[in-house]
This record gives sequence, C-alpha cells and structure tokens, in this order.
Amino acid sequence: MQIKLNASDRQQIEESIHKKYSQAAKNPAALFKYPTGRNGLQTLGYDAKLVEQLPDEVANGYCGVGNPFSLGTIPKGSIVMDIGCGAGVDTLIAATLVGSTGKSVGIDMVPAMLDQAKSNAKLMQLGNVHFMEMSASRLSFEHTSIDIVISNGVFNLIIDKQQALANVFNCLKPGGYLMMADQLLTEPLPNDTKMIVASWFR
Ligand SMILES: C[S@@+](CC[C@H](N)C(=O)[O-])C[C@H]1O[C@@H](n2cnc3c(N)ncnc32)[C@H](O)[C@@H]1O
Repeated sequence: MQIKLNASDRQQIEESIHKKYSQAAKNPAALFKYPTGRNGLQTLGYDAKLVEQLPDEVANGYCGVGNPFSLGTIPKGSIVMDIGCGAGVDTLIAATLVGSTGKSVGIDMVPAMLDQAKSNAKLMQLGNVHFMEMSASRLSFEHTSIDIVISNGVFNLIIDKQQALANVFNCLKPGGYLMMADQLLTEPLPNDTKMIVASWFR
C-alpha cells in the first residue's frame, strides 16, 4: 500500500522521533519495553568477547532490535556505515572489527544521540570512527564509497523507506552489502493516515 503523508504528517513524525530519541540517548532502558543495553546485546547473541570489551556507559546506550553482525562478516580494512547509529554501539563494534586499516562511520539525525555516540567513542579510544548528523532520507556520501552498511532498528522509523534504501545502494561499492536488523509489519496498516501517524511508534 502506498501511504500519502502530507507535510504536516511528516513534520509530526520527525518531531516525535527527535523528542523520543533525545530522551532515549541517556537511558534507553527507562523508555523501551524490549531488552536494551548490555542485556539486549547478550539476548540478541552479539559476540560475547566484543560485548565484554564495552564499558558499561557504552553498552547502556544500545537500543537495537536485532543483531546485524549475525548476517555476515566484517573484514578487516572495510569501510562501514551505520545508518541511525544512535549512541553508536554497533558503529563502535564495527570499528573494532575493521581495525586500524578500516573506518566506521555512524550517522543519525538526532543530535543528543550523536553527542552520546561521540562521548562513547572517546571512552573506547578508537581512532577509526566518525559520527555525522544526517538523515537516512538525505544521505550525502560519495557514490560507491562504502563496503558495508549496517542498520539496526531504524528503517521502521524512516518515512521514505524506498528513497533511503536507494541512497544506501548508491553509497555501496559494487559487491558491497547491507546488513539490517529491523521490525516488520505483520498486519495491514490502518487505512486512515491519521491513525498511521498516531501509531508510528506503536
Ligand atoms: C531504535 S534506535 C536504534 C539506535 C542504534 N541503531 C542501536 O542499535 O542502538 C533508532 C535510531 O534511529 C534514528 N533515526 C530515526 N530516523 C532516522 C533517519 N531518518 N535518519 C537517521 N537516523 C534516524 C534515531 O534517532 C535513533 O537513534
């Protein structure tokens, strides 16, 4: 079904995302019903050694819904982009996996999340990680510049999913890949646009 959202619907959704994830930046456990933080990482089967290396303050910021690293390998030297990186836990794990010859870049559209991600990167003392404020709907990365895109719990929130996916594939090098964990619809959307906007975070 093609949903037609007008400018005011879009603004309402984007403002709600900013509000909710600004709150979530400091303490996601207080906001979400699913397992977050170190508990979430362990429940979702992240590599135990990598999780162990994360300081508590870093692990606490995790609010992913799945484990993108379970979908493939991240070779040393790769350039990885994490779309909707939040507090940067997956970005930092990717930075550890790619090593000093690789690079890991996290993008998010909520400044409070990026502040937390930058502070987490300092704690981990990794020199190969960068964070940028950017929306997945308006990715501005060089064509075919990225080896692997990861994303966790973000595409369900994006209004223009097709555009955002096209942006991802434009950035990927030939043979590059996307490893995405997310939530999927299991029943039809309501017909009423107001209901769709109201239930965006249900
Ligand atoms: C459920 S959190 C997941 C954060 C992180 N991936 C993790 O696993 O901890 C969703 C994140 O997506 C970000 N987000 C939502 N819509 C976005 C968009 N259009 N572009 C970039 N980031 C977005 C939010 O700000 C939030 O940080």
